Amino acid sequence: MVEKSDWIWMNGEFVAWDDANVHVLSHGLHYGTGVFEGIRCYETEAGPAVFRHREHLERLAKSAELYYLPLEHSVDEIRSATHELIRRNGLRSCYIRPLAFRGYGEMGLYAKGSPVNVIVAAWPWGAYLGEESKREGIRAKVSSWRRISPAGLIPQAKASGQYLNSILAKTESSNAGYDEAILLDEAGHVCEGSGENIYLVREGEIVTPPHTASILDGISRKSILQIARDLGYTVVEREIARAELYLAEEVFLSGTAAELVPVREIDDHDLGGPGEITRVIQAKFEDALHGRAQEYAEWLDLVEQPSKVSG
Ligand SMILES: Cc1ncc(COP(=O)(O)O)c(C=O)c1O
Repeated sequence: MVEKSDWIWMNGEFVAWDDANVHVLSHGLHYGTGVFEGIRCYETEAGPAVFRHREHLERLAKSAELYYLPLEHSVDEIRSATHELIRRNGLRSCYIRPLAFRGYGEMGLYAKGSPVNVIVAAWPWGAYLGEESKREGIRAKVSSWRRISPAGLIPQAKASGQYLNSILAKTESSNAGYDEAILLDEAGHVCEGSGENIYLVREGEIVTPPHTASILDGISRKSILQIARDLGYTVVEREIARAELYLAEEVFLSGTAAELVPVREIDDHDLGGPGEITRVIQAKFEDALHGRAQEYAEWLDLVEQPSKVSG
């Protein structure tokens, strides 16, 4: 169960968690017409700080535009509302879920008359694949489901309906006893996890599918590639053949919910424990998330706390 907090921001107002409800004929429920974000706020020495907040909200605005969902709230408004939400809920660290979706009004596919609702919820949520997975690595399975094709949908958008693809892959791998699914694209190249980007280490170089592949252009990915380059590693963005997953020295995944997770086994091929390069990058990434890496301080959007009133 989601751990409740007190308030949810809904269309410009703060609503009690249990009252943040919608009509069953909301368009998004029927057709998946929504776009969302997954963001994390970390407790740092300076206070709660949201990781790459503006980039996440800008991706939300772009996803909305790609699916013709006009937003009545600007990135700045949603950012301030989120800061206030974190303060009101008294959260020090949390997962943040902004969602914009077509609401109740018209039905049918061309429902321009239905309002586009915007909500932001925030609640405490630990590492998606577990803390142990981050230490020990996970077991993954290549999915029989292919990643959505750009010929039919928009892989670069984070749209609600698109996640049926991820859910099919995740359900298949979980039912088969694995921790996560790896999806190939239409052509059979390695694409990403069900909710994470993927990286291989081959001959000491970090290899990852290019952002022109059918991947979500992850914000963790962007951060990890910068960290890897800053640490002096060579990063190559190129197509990856399925068999390279089994031949790689190291494999890891990244996403806001999961953070950086080593992969120790794929399709029952043992890759060994988390490798050295994975460990080094993971440690620096964790430092960046938690405000311990001065060189990446600008990635953190500090949530100002009310100043103490004296007297
Ligand atoms: C399909 C998919 N790929 C990749 C990612 C990683 O993106 P990010 O690092 O921006 O969270 C996510 C998570 O949002 C995702 O859902």
